Amino acid sequence: MAGVGSYVPAKILTNADLERMVSTSDEWITTRTGIKERHIAAKDEFTSDLGAAAARRAMQRARVTPEQIDLIIVATITPDMPFPSTACLIQQKLGAHRAAAFDLEAACSGFIYALEIAQQFIMTRTYDTVLVIGAEKLSSIVDWKDRNTCVLFGDGAGAAILQNRPHAHGLLTAVMGADGSKADLLFMAGGGSRCPATAESVASRLHYLRMEGKEAFKNAVQAMKTAAQEALRRCEIDISRIKCIIPHQANLRIIDAVGERIGARPDQLFVNVHKYGNTSAASVAIALDEAVQTGRVQHGDLILLMVFGAGLTWGAAVIEW
Ligand SMILES: CC(C)(COP(=O)(O)OP(=O)(O)OC[C@H]1O[C@@H](n2cnc3c(N)ncnc32)[C@H](O)[C@@H]1OP(=O)(O)O)[C@@H](O)C(=O)NCCC(=O)NCCS
Repeated sequence: MAGVGSYVPAKILTNADLERMVSTSDEWITTRTGIKERHIAAKDEFTSDLGAAAARRAMQRARVTPEQIDLIIVATITPDMPFPSTACLIQQKLGAHRAAAFDLEAACSGFIYALEIAQQFIMTRTYDTVLVIGAEKLSSIVDWKDRNTCVLFGDGAGAAILQNRPHAHGLLTAVMGADGSKADLLFMAGGGSRCPATAESVASRLHYLRMEGKEAFKNAVQAMKTAAQEALRRCEIDISRIKCIIPHQANLRIIDAVGERIGARPDQLFVNVHKYGNTSAASVAIALDEAVQTGRVQHGDLILLMVFGAGLTWGAAVIEW
Protein backbone atom coordinates (compact mmCIF):
# COMPACT_ATOMS: atom_id res chain seq x y z
CA MET A 1 0.00 0.00 0.00
CA ALA A 2 2.06 2.88 -1.32
CA GLY A 3 -0.11 5.83 -0.29
CA VAL A 4 -3.50 6.82 1.09
CA GLY A 5 -5.58 9.99 0.87
CA SER A 6 -9.00 11.30 1.72
CA TYR A 7 -11.30 14.22 1.07
CA VAL A 8 -14.47 15.54 2.66
CA PRO A 9 -16.58 18.41 1.32
CA ALA A 10 -16.31 21.77 3.07
CA LYS A 11 -19.89 22.16 4.29
CA ILE A 12 -20.54 20.84 7.81
CA LEU A 13 -24.01 19.88 9.02
CA THR A 14 -24.16 19.84 12.84
CA ASN A 15 -26.65 18.19 15.16
CA ALA A 16 -27.93 21.69 15.93
CA ASP A 17 -28.64 22.17 12.21
CA LEU A 18 -30.59 18.87 12.18
CA GLU A 19 -32.65 20.03 15.18
CA ARG A 20 -34.03 22.68 12.85
CA MET A 21 -34.85 20.13 10.10
CA VAL A 22 -36.50 17.18 11.93
CA SER A 23 -37.78 16.39 15.41
CA THR A 24 -34.49 15.39 17.03
CA SER A 25 -31.92 16.68 19.51
CA ASP A 26 -28.16 16.85 19.85
CA GLU A 27 -28.56 14.84 23.05
CA TRP A 28 -30.46 11.99 21.27
CA ILE A 29 -28.03 11.81 18.35
CA THR A 30 -24.95 11.98 20.57
CA THR A 31 -26.03 9.35 23.07
CA ARG A 32 -27.44 6.92 20.46
CA THR A 33 -24.72 7.29 17.81
CA GLY A 34 -21.76 9.41 18.96
CA ILE A 35 -22.17 11.59 15.86
CA LYS A 36 -21.78 15.38 16.29
CA GLU A 37 -21.46 16.53 12.69
CA ARG A 38 -21.14 15.29 9.10
CA HIS A 39 -19.88 16.82 5.84
CA ILE A 40 -22.29 17.47 2.98
CA ALA A 41 -21.28 17.87 -0.66
CA ALA A 42 -22.35 20.94 -2.64
CA LYS A 43 -25.10 20.65 -5.26
CA ASP A 44 -22.54 20.63 -8.07
CA GLU A 45 -20.08 18.32 -6.27
CA PHE A 46 -20.56 14.64 -7.08
CA THR A 47 -19.20 11.30 -5.89
CA SER A 48 -16.65 11.36 -8.73
CA ASP A 49 -15.37 14.77 -7.53
CA LEU A 50 -14.96 13.54 -3.96
CA GLY A 51 -13.28 10.34 -5.18
CA ALA A 52 -10.92 12.17 -7.54
CA ALA A 53 -9.87 14.60 -4.79
CA ALA A 54 -9.05 11.73 -2.41
CA ALA A 55 -7.24 9.88 -5.22
CA ARG A 56 -5.01 12.87 -6.03
CA ARG A 57 -3.84 12.99 -2.41
CA ALA A 58 -3.11 9.24 -2.36
CA MET A 59 -1.26 9.48 -5.70
CA GLN A 60 0.85 12.39 -4.47
CA ARG A 61 1.88 10.49 -1.33
CA ALA A 62 2.62 7.34 -3.34
CA ARG A 63 4.46 9.44 -5.97
CA VAL A 64 2.34 7.88 -8.69
CA THR A 65 1.47 9.69 -11.93
CA PRO A 66 -1.90 9.24 -13.67
CA GLU A 67 -0.18 7.36 -16.53
CA GLN A 68 1.13 4.73 -14.11
CA ILE A 69 -2.32 3.60 -12.95
CA ASP A 70 -3.39 0.27 -14.45
CA LEU A 71 -6.77 -0.13 -12.78
CA ILE A 72 -9.27 2.03 -10.88
CA ILE A 73 -11.85 0.38 -8.60
CA VAL A 74 -14.49 2.61 -7.03
CA ALA A 75 -16.61 1.26 -4.18
CA THR A 76 -19.83 3.25 -3.93
CA ILE A 77 -23.60 3.02 -3.54
CA THR A 78 -24.04 6.60 -4.75
CA PRO A 79 -22.51 6.63 -8.25
CA ASP A 80 -22.84 9.89 -10.21
CA MET A 81 -25.22 7.98 -12.52
CA PRO A 82 -26.37 4.33 -12.82
CA PHE A 83 -23.96 4.17 -15.76
CA PRO A 84 -21.31 4.81 -16.91
CA SER A 85 -19.36 3.85 -13.82
CA THR A 86 -18.02 6.48 -11.47
CA ALA A 87 -14.62 4.81 -11.94
CA CYS A 88 -14.71 5.85 -15.63
CA LEU A 89 -15.61 9.42 -14.67
CA ILE A 90 -12.73 9.51 -12.18
CA GLN A 91 -10.35 8.04 -14.77
CA GLN A 92 -11.17 11.02 -16.97
CA LYS A 93 -10.83 13.55 -14.13
CA LEU A 94 -7.40 12.18 -13.17
CA GLY A 95 -6.19 11.76 -16.76
CA ALA A 96 -5.40 8.11 -16.00
CA HIS A 97 -6.01 7.13 -19.62
CA ARG A 98 -4.23 3.76 -19.48
CA ALA A 99 -6.36 2.48 -16.60
CA ALA A 100 -9.18 -0.03 -16.76
CA ALA A 101 -12.02 1.14 -14.53
CA PHE A 102 -15.07 -0.29 -12.81
CA ASP A 103 -17.38 0.26 -9.84
CA LEU A 104 -18.00 -2.21 -7.07
CA GLU A 105 -21.16 -2.33 -4.99
CA ALA A 106 -20.79 -3.85 -1.54
CA ALA A 107 -22.28 -0.89 0.36
CA CYS A 108 -20.34 0.04 3.51
CA SER A 109 -18.09 -3.02 3.06
CA GLY A 110 -16.98 -1.87 -0.39
CA PHE A 111 -13.52 -0.56 0.50
CA ILE A 112 -12.33 -3.90 1.88
CA TYR A 113 -13.91 -5.78 -1.03
CA ALA A 114 -12.07 -3.41 -3.41
CA LEU A 115 -8.74 -3.74 -1.57
CA GLU A 116 -8.96 -7.53 -1.79
CA ILE A 117 -9.75 -7.45 -5.53
CA ALA A 118 -6.87 -5.02 -6.13
CA GLN A 119 -4.55 -7.28 -4.18
CA GLN A 120 -5.50 -10.27 -6.36
CA PHE A 121 -4.55 -8.37 -9.52
CA ILE A 122 -1.25 -7.31 -7.94
CA MET A 123 -0.38 -10.82 -6.73
CA THR A 124 -1.11 -12.39 -10.09
CA ARG A 125 1.10 -9.63 -11.59
CA THR A 126 -1.67 -8.67 -13.97
CA TYR A 127 -1.35 -5.07 -12.83
CA ASP A 128 1.42 -3.11 -11.15
CA THR A 129 -0.48 -0.07 -9.83
CA VAL A 130 -4.11 -0.13 -8.70
CA LEU A 131 -6.10 2.83 -7.38
CA VAL A 132 -8.82 1.85 -4.89
CA ILE A 133 -11.42 4.44 -3.90
CA GLY A 134 -14.36 4.45 -1.50
CA ALA A 135 -16.53 7.48 -2.29
CA GLU A 136 -20.07 8.48 -1.36
CA LYS A 137 -22.50 11.34 -1.67
CA LEU A 138 -25.02 9.75 0.69
CA SER A 139 -26.74 13.11 1.17
CA SER A 140 -28.23 12.49 -2.30
CA ILE A 141 -30.15 9.36 -1.15
CA VAL A 142 -30.94 10.34 2.44
CA ASP A 143 -34.55 11.23 3.20
CA TRP A 144 -34.11 14.56 4.98
CA LYS A 145 -37.61 14.18 6.46
CA ASP A 146 -36.85 10.80 8.12
CA ARG A 147 -35.23 11.36 11.52
CA ASN A 148 -34.52 7.62 11.84
CA THR A 149 -31.88 7.81 9.12
CA CYS A 150 -30.99 11.39 8.18
CA VAL A 151 -28.94 12.01 11.32
CA LEU A 152 -26.63 9.06 10.61
CA PHE A 153 -24.97 9.67 7.24
CA GLY A 154 -22.44 11.99 5.59
CA ASP A 155 -20.40 12.49 2.41
CA GLY A 156 -16.70 11.88 1.74
CA ALA A 157 -14.06 9.76 0.03
CA GLY A 158 -10.89 7.83 0.79
CA ALA A 159 -8.35 6.27 -1.56
CA ALA A 160 -5.35 3.98 -1.58
CA ILE A 161 -2.67 3.14 -4.13
CA LEU A 162 -1.61 -0.50 -4.18
CA GLN A 163 1.58 -1.40 -5.99
CA ASN A 164 3.71 -4.40 -6.73
CA ARG A 165 6.92 -3.57 -4.87
CA PRO A 166 9.60 -6.04 -3.72
CA HIS A 167 9.72 -6.56 0.07
CA ALA A 168 6.74 -4.21 0.51
CA HIS A 169 4.19 -4.68 3.24
CA GLY A 170 0.52 -4.04 2.87
CA LEU A 171 -2.59 -6.16 2.95
CA LEU A 172 -1.76 -9.39 4.81
CA THR A 173 -5.23 -10.85 4.50
CA ALA A 174 -8.82 -9.84 3.80
CA VAL A 175 -12.03 -11.63 4.74
CA MET A 176 -15.25 -10.93 2.81
CA GLY A 177 -18.76 -12.18 3.58
CA ALA A 178 -22.39 -11.66 2.57
CA ASP A 179 -25.94 -12.76 3.48
CA GLY A 180 -28.56 -11.82 0.89
CA SER A 181 -31.39 -13.18 3.03
CA LYS A 182 -31.09 -9.98 5.08
CA ALA A 183 -31.24 -7.59 2.13
CA ASP A 184 -34.34 -5.95 3.59
CA LEU A 185 -32.51 -4.49 6.60
CA LEU A 186 -30.95 -1.66 4.60
CA PHE A 187 -31.94 -0.82 1.04
CA MET A 188 -33.14 1.73 -1.50
CA ALA A 189 -36.22 0.41 -3.33
CA GLY A 190 -36.51 2.89 -6.21
CA GLY A 191 -34.43 3.54 -9.29
CA GLY A 192 -33.45 -0.01 -10.22
CA SER A 193 -35.00 -2.50 -12.65
CA ARG A 194 -37.52 -3.62 -10.04
CA CYS A 195 -38.91 -0.16 -9.52
CA PRO A 196 -37.81 2.35 -12.15
CA ALA A 197 -38.39 6.02 -11.43
CA THR A 198 -42.00 7.13 -11.94
CA ALA A 199 -44.01 10.03 -10.56
CA GLU A 200 -45.54 7.51 -8.10
CA SER A 201 -42.19 6.11 -6.95
CA VAL A 202 -40.93 9.62 -6.28
CA ALA A 203 -44.13 10.59 -4.45
CA SER A 204 -43.80 7.43 -2.33
CA ARG A 205 -40.23 8.44 -1.41
CA LEU A 206 -38.80 5.17 -2.76
CA HIS A 207 -35.58 6.83 -3.94
CA TYR A 208 -34.26 7.19 -0.42
CA LEU A 209 -32.45 4.66 1.74
CA ARG A 210 -34.47 2.79 4.35
CA MET A 211 -33.16 0.90 7.36
CA GLU A 212 -34.20 -1.38 10.22
CA GLY A 213 -31.90 0.26 12.76
CA LYS A 214 -32.07 -2.19 15.63
CA GLU A 215 -31.56 -5.31 13.46
CA ALA A 216 -28.77 -3.61 11.50
CA PHE A 217 -27.08 -2.83 14.80
CA LYS A 218 -27.17 -6.42 16.08
CA ASN A 219 -26.01 -7.88 12.78
CA ALA A 220 -23.20 -5.32 12.49
CA VAL A 221 -21.71 -6.26 15.83
CA GLN A 222 -21.86 -10.01 15.18
CA ALA A 223 -20.59 -9.84 11.59
CA MET A 224 -17.64 -7.55 12.31
CA LYS A 225 -16.64 -9.65 15.29
CA THR A 226 -16.66 -12.88 13.25
CA ALA A 227 -14.81 -11.30 10.31
CA ALA A 228 -12.14 -9.72 12.53
CA GLN A 229 -11.49 -12.95 14.37
CA GLU A 230 -11.22 -14.88 11.09
CA ALA A 231 -8.76 -12.34 9.64
CA LEU A 232 -6.58 -12.48 12.76
CA ARG A 233 -6.71 -16.29 12.78
CA ARG A 234 -5.58 -16.48 9.15
CA CYS A 235 -2.54 -14.29 9.89
CA GLU A 236 -1.89 -15.98 13.25
CA ILE A 237 -1.84 -12.57 14.90
CA ASP A 238 -3.16 -11.95 18.41
CA ILE A 239 -5.39 -8.88 18.79
CA SER A 240 -2.97 -7.45 21.38
CA ARG A 241 -0.36 -6.96 18.61
CA ILE A 242 -2.65 -4.71 16.54
CA LYS A 243 -1.63 -1.06 16.89
CA CYS A 244 -4.77 0.45 15.42
CA ILE A 245 -8.24 -1.09 14.95
CA ILE A 246 -10.36 0.79 12.41
CA PRO A 247 -14.01 -0.30 12.51
CA HIS A 248 -16.64 0.94 10.06
CA GLN A 249 -17.67 4.32 11.50
CA ALA A 250 -21.46 3.94 11.67
CA ASN A 251 -22.18 4.33 15.35
CA LEU A 252 -19.98 4.69 18.44
CA ARG A 253 -22.06 2.13 20.32
CA ILE A 254 -21.46 -0.44 17.57
CA ILE A 255 -17.72 0.33 17.67
CA ASP A 256 -17.60 -0.08 21.46
CA ALA A 257 -19.64 -3.30 21.39
CA VAL A 258 -17.44 -4.91 18.71
CA GLY A 259 -14.29 -3.72 20.44
CA GLU A 260 -15.38 -5.37 23.67
CA ARG A 261 -16.34 -8.64 21.96
CA ILE A 262 -13.00 -9.01 20.18
CA GLY A 263 -11.03 -8.14 23.32
CA ALA A 264 -9.67 -4.81 22.06
CA ARG A 265 -8.25 -2.20 24.43
CA PRO A 266 -9.98 1.21 24.10
CA ASP A 267 -6.66 2.79 23.04
CA GLN A 268 -6.50 0.45 20.01
CA LEU A 269 -9.82 1.63 18.56
CA PHE A 270 -9.76 4.45 15.98
CA VAL A 271 -12.86 6.65 16.10
CA ASN A 272 -13.82 9.61 13.90
CA VAL A 273 -17.57 8.95 13.61
CA HIS A 274 -18.27 12.14 15.61
CA LYS A 275 -16.85 14.23 12.72
CA TYR A 276 -18.23 12.46 9.65
CA GLY A 277 -21.12 10.15 10.58
CA ASN A 278 -21.48 7.04 8.42
CA THR A 279 -19.88 7.61 5.00
CA SER A 280 -20.46 4.02 3.83
CA ALA A 281 -17.72 2.80 1.46
CA ALA A 282 -15.60 5.86 2.29
CA SER A 283 -15.71 5.31 6.04
CA VAL A 284 -12.71 3.09 6.82
CA ALA A 285 -10.79 4.64 3.91
CA ILE A 286 -11.06 8.12 5.45
CA ALA A 287 -10.22 6.71 8.89
CA LEU A 288 -7.16 4.86 7.56
CA ASP A 289 -5.88 8.05 5.97
CA GLU A 290 -6.43 10.02 9.19
CA ALA A 291 -4.68 7.34 11.25
CA VAL A 292 -1.66 7.55 8.93
CA GLN A 293 -1.52 11.35 8.57
CA THR A 294 -1.84 11.94 12.34
CA GLY A 295 0.96 9.47 13.11
CA ARG A 296 -1.36 7.09 14.89
CA VAL A 297 0.21 4.30 12.80
CA GLN A 298 3.89 4.15 11.90
CA HIS A 299 5.92 2.04 9.50
CA GLY A 300 5.65 -1.62 10.51
CA ASP A 301 2.53 -1.23 12.67
CA LEU A 302 -0.34 -3.69 12.29
CA ILE A 303 -3.81 -2.33 11.43
CA LEU A 304 -7.13 -4.18 11.57
CA LEU A 305 -10.02 -2.90 9.42
CA MET A 306 -13.58 -4.20 10.04
CA VAL A 307 -16.62 -3.34 7.95
CA PHE A 308 -20.34 -4.07 7.74
CA GLY A 309 -23.06 -2.89 5.39
CA ALA A 310 -26.16 -3.43 3.30
CA GLY A 311 -26.47 -6.74 1.50
CA LEU A 312 -25.79 -7.76 4.12
CA THR A 313 -22.06 -7.63 3.55
CA TRP A 314 -19.09 -7.59 5.89
CA GLY A 315 -15.35 -7.91 5.93
CA ALA A 316 -12.09 -7.47 7.80
CA ALA A 317 -8.51 -6.87 6.72
CA VAL A 318 -5.11 -6.94 8.38
CA ILE A 319 -2.56 -4.46 7.04
CA GLU A 320 1.12 -4.18 7.90
CA TRP A 321 1.87 -0.50 7.36
C1 LIG B 1 -30.62 3.94 14.37
C2 LIG B 1 -30.17 3.80 15.80
C3 LIG B 1 -29.21 4.92 16.16
C4 LIG B 1 -31.38 3.90 16.72
O1 LIG B 1 -30.98 3.73 18.03
P1 LIG B 1 -31.84 2.81 19.00
O2 LIG B 1 -31.24 2.86 20.35
O3 LIG B 1 -31.93 1.47 18.35
O4 LIG B 1 -33.19 3.58 19.01
P2 LIG B 1 -34.64 2.95 19.01
O5 LIG B 1 -34.86 2.10 17.82
O6 LIG B 1 -34.79 2.34 20.35
O7 LIG B 1 -35.54 4.24 18.85
C5 LIG B 1 -36.01 4.86 19.98
C6 LIG B 1 -36.93 6.00 19.63
O8 LIG B 1 -36.17 7.09 19.07
C7 LIG B 1 -36.86 7.64 17.99
N1 LIG B 1 -35.91 8.24 17.08
C8 LIG B 1 -35.37 7.71 15.96
N2 LIG B 1 -34.53 8.60 15.41
C9 LIG B 1 -34.55 9.70 16.19
C10 LIG B 1 -33.89 10.93 16.13
N3 LIG B 1 -33.02 11.22 15.15
N4 LIG B 1 -34.13 11.82 17.10
C11 LIG B 1 -34.97 11.56 18.10
N5 LIG B 1 -35.65 10.40 18.21
C12 LIG B 1 -35.43 9.48 17.25
C13 LIG B 1 -37.61 6.49 17.37
O9 LIG B 1 -38.70 6.94 16.64
C14 LIG B 1 -38.02 5.70 18.61
O10 LIG B 1 -39.19 6.32 19.09
P3 LIG B 1 -40.40 5.46 19.69
O11 LIG B 1 -39.79 4.61 20.77
O12 LIG B 1 -41.34 6.50 20.15
O13 LIG B 1 -40.88 4.66 18.52
C15 LIG B 1 -29.49 2.46 16.03
O14 LIG B 1 -30.43 1.42 15.96
C16 LIG B 1 -28.39 2.20 15.05
O15 LIG B 1 -27.40 2.89 15.01
N6 LIG B 1 -28.50 1.12 14.26
C17 LIG B 1 -27.50 0.78 13.29
C18 LIG B 1 -27.63 1.65 12.13
C19 LIG B 1 -26.47 1.57 11.23
O16 LIG B 1 -25.37 1.85 11.63
N7 LIG B 1 -26.71 1.21 10.00
C20 LIG B 1 -25.74 1.24 8.99
C21 LIG B 1 -24.96 0.02 8.99
S1 LIG B 1 -23.81 0.12 7.72
